[in-house]
Amino acid sequence: MEAQESIVVLENVKKYFDIRDSKGKKGTLKAVDGVSFQIKKGETFGLVGESGCGKSTLGKTLLNLFPITEGSICIDGQEVNQLKSRKEKVAFGSKVQLVFQDPSACLNPRNRIGAILAEPFKIHHKSSMSKQEIDQKIDELLTMVGLAPEYKHRYPHEMSGGQKQRIGIARALALNPEIIICDEPVSALDVSIQAQVINLLEDLQEKMELTYLFISHDLGVVYHMCDRIAVMYLGNIVELADKKALYEDTLHPYTQALISAAPTIDLEKTDRVVLKGDVPSPSNPPKGCKFHTRCPYAMPVCETENPELLEVKDNHFVACHLCKKTLREEIRK
Ligand SMILES: Nc1ncnc2c1ncn2[C@@H]1O[C@H](COP(=O)(O)OP(=O)(O)O)[C@@H](O)[C@H]1O
Ligand code: SF4
Ligand SMILES: [Mg+2]
Repeated sequence: MEAQESIVVLENVKKYFDIRDSKGKKGTLKAVDGVSFQIKKGETFGLVGESGCGKSTLGKTLLNLFPITEGSICIDGQEVNQLKSRKEKVAFGSKVQLVFQDPSACLNPRNRIGAILAEPFKIHHKSSMSKQEIDQKIDELLTMVGLAPEYKHRYPHEMSGGQKQRIGIARALALNPEIIICDEPVSALDVSIQAQVINLLEDLQEKMELTYLFISHDLGVVYHMCDRIAVMYLGNIVELADKKALYEDTLHPYTQALISAAPTIDLEKTDRVVLKGDVPSPSNPPKGCKFHTRCPYAMPVCETENPELLEVKDNHFVACHLCKKTLREEIRK
């Protein structure tokens, strides 16, 4: 896809949660801790990282599901956290939609598929659409996601996981959105069904000129789907590059480790970086580079100074002190 203008612009976005530990002591959990990137119109932007690194929280900030702690999110020229009137919020709500990991969680088991798919129209076009028009829209949506219109008479429990995810996608498409946040959309599905849903998302993107933020812990899936990829660790982006550069010219030790561990990626590289230990808690992250407790290349400076995300090559951004010391040679020694 041709490079186009940015439809999503994030600048230093932070989302902190107030929490209490087991003894009731108050604390702050830094789920998203200063994230900046842009998504171009029509692209599939991947966000990858281990569980708990802040991917879903970042996705939710784009949907304006809660106020951010700091920073700015601009979608299609509109500052998300400054939407005030109901009209503005409703218009924004139809522009950005979400496809969840677990389709069952968002499909009311007591409603038939027809009623589930009618909801967005009833909320957003209450008085302007007749029952017949809504019915026709539902048939179109079902056909669009590869299901026969008869499925509108079924209940969610009468459908397979893959079919339910198709309904989740149909619901996200109902209001003709521009951006879809796909949060682990295939992680709960069997591998054979994963491919079908991914193909469907790709077809729909082309037909409807959609922009995707594609969130996944699975580098194989992200590699297949995305144009550019951001790697997230404990609330920060540590590497951001075009897909090819990220996989073939990996610069951050964490990305190296993730790629080494991905079974579905055929690596010619023989070096494997094996991660030590667990991900530290975002309520008490390590000082300096948050990755230093697990990084095989950690130096004294890594324990005290948090490395900035810098453009080290054309459109290839990395947050690592080693970059200043010709990172690649160090890593491949
Ligand atoms: N509403 C919340 N209140 C407190 N902590 C939260 C809340 N939502 C998410 N978190 C915490 O924020 C961190 C990031 O979570 P999440 O964004 O779901 O990660 P991911 O999607 O990458 O697995 C986790 O430590 C999680 O426990
Ligand atoms: S800054 Fe230091 S600890 Fe962090 S990834 Fe780079 S080398 Fe490793
Ligand atoms: Mg998540």
